Amino acid sequence: MDINKIQNLKNQAISSILEAKSDRELEELRIAFLGRKGEITQLLKKIPSLNSSERKEMGQIANDVKRAVEQALADAKKAEAVKKIDIDKEWLDVTAPGKKPPLGHIHLVTETIKEITEIFTKIGFTRVAYPEVEWDWYSFGRLNMPANHPARDEWETLYIDKLKHKKYGRSVLTPHTSSGQVREMEKRKLPIRMLNIAKCYRRQSNVSHAPMFYQFETLVVDKGINVTHLKGTLDYFAQQYFGKDQKTRIRPFHFQFTEPSFEVDVTCTVCGGKGCQVCKGGWLELGGAGMVHPLVLKHGGIDPEKYSGFASGFGVERVLMMRHKIPDIRLLFGGDLRFLNQF
Ligand code: DAH
Repeated sequence: MDINKIQNLKNQAISSILEAKSDRELEELRIAFLGRKGEITQLLKKIPSLNSSERKEMGQIANDVKRAVEQALADAKKAEAVKKIDIDKEWLDVTAPGKKPPLGHIHLVTETIKEITEIFTKIGFTRVAYPEVEWDWYSFGRLNMPANHPARDEWETLYIDKLKHKKYGRSVLTPHTSSGQVREMEKRKLPIRMLNIAKCYRRQSNVSHAPMFYQFETLVVDKGINVTHLKGTLDYFAQQYFGKDQKTRIRPFHFQFTEPSFEVDVTCTVCGGKGCQVCKGGWLELGGAGMVHPLVLKHGGIDPEKYSGFASGFGVERVLMMRHKIPDIRLLFGGDLRFLNQF
């Protein structure tokens, strides 16, 4: 096999490719050189029959030629494609406005927290924040629930075993915002008008309960505070948040940290109070409330002979689900845009 002949073949192939004037001509050249019966293909076929010393050298040269011709063909095809572009028809409007990336909005839960904050700060409450990982002491002990008291079972608490304190006991993921009550009293600033909105955790999961959720807690301590102040504040909240015709009702209940204690209902948002399948005779349950237990005041260093107070604790998700008629709490934490974009 003659090296010169091979080089000539390569030169011939490349110069024909460069002269080709159409895609069709290029295709004909490809077949002539690289097709099944093409000249270069034929050459490569002969290589295995050469003696071993020639085989290596020739094999390399022939392969280089094949690659060079393939490259020349590819380049020529690209050049043909560019030639087809009609420059007069192609244009770019540099003044056109850019495409805006999609923008999200504040999550419904965050929006509700903001709204609740505004409703209460308007009448003199101050928003506070307390630890998310809390001592048993503040979550239960100081709220009149001694160790092993059965009332604790209602909270389905998540304990953190590794953290224990001689005085404050075990640590927990705050099961309710009432943990902030005695912490607030310990600030030693009276009167108190506290609004504690925070994440709470309980071992629970169904359409209306999530393991992580938000509560908002009010605590008022001053001279001469009585149930009418509590009732007035509850009505004010219901009217601000649910609408001006809303009323609240308080029913006797039991909590360890309030005396008397109540469950609070609000006019049903579905039937407007007439009574329907969703509510109990025109009422929907909002949460718990009551007059602060004298012992809790004492635990916070406040003299119950001089001061009294009320407290309430409601679920943020619960009130917003009532207002927007959302059937499943998990929708709020799922991140599904088909749901979230409706708000
Ligand atoms: N902490 C209670 C709960 O999570 C709710 C509650 C009841 C809060 C009565 C209060 C109250 O402030 O007075 O179930």
